[in-house]
Amino acid sequence: MRTLVAAILLVICVVGLPVDPTIASDAAVLQPRVPSDQLDEARTWKNLLEATPENVEKGKAIFQGKAFCVTCHGRDGRGLGDIPGLVGRLPRNFTDKAWQAARTDGELMWILKNGSPGTDMASFIPLILTEEEAWYVLLYVRSFGQP
Ligand code: HEC
Repeated sequence: MRTLVAAILLVICVVGLPVDPTIASDAAVLQPRVPSDQLDEARTWKNLLEATPENVEKGKAIFQGKAFCVTCHGRDGRGLGDIPGLVGRLPRNFTDKAWQAARTDGELMWILKNGSPGTDMASFIPLILTEEEAWYVLLYVRSFGQP
């Protein structure tokens, strides 16, 4: 019996709980992550790269490759569910249109520079990504919100 429970838990850990896309976004997820004194400035930062298929592909390669975003956010961008020991709300469901609409590109860039304060979303610039590479990754993050 204990083996069965352990096996089920393992499957849940590896596969994640299914996320129902019809569930409305959690209000807490929509709250800005950028501290209020830096929010206005962050919102002025624009992604100057065009979302061409080639550029989105470049972002995807970084997301799944050297920046290992995929380890927490999943290949489908829905996040892996609550990961035991991980601090922060389940890594975002990037396919959530309400969340996509609630954020500007600049705010997402701020997160890649600074991390999300108080969570396991770390900063990736400049240690892992250049700012330019981060803009490519964000094109890919945005592509999850497309129909
Ligand atoms: C160690 C696990 C982990 C890795 C690796 C990771 N993230 Fe995250 N990410 C998180 C968690 C946890 C959150 C939720 C943070 C919160 O609640 O504010 C998050 C949140 C985010 C958000 C949403 C912030 C917001 O404003 O709502 C974005 C965008 C994001 N991550 C992008 C990335 C990208 C791009 C990469 C790769 C460069 C990456 N993450 C790698 C764990 C991770």
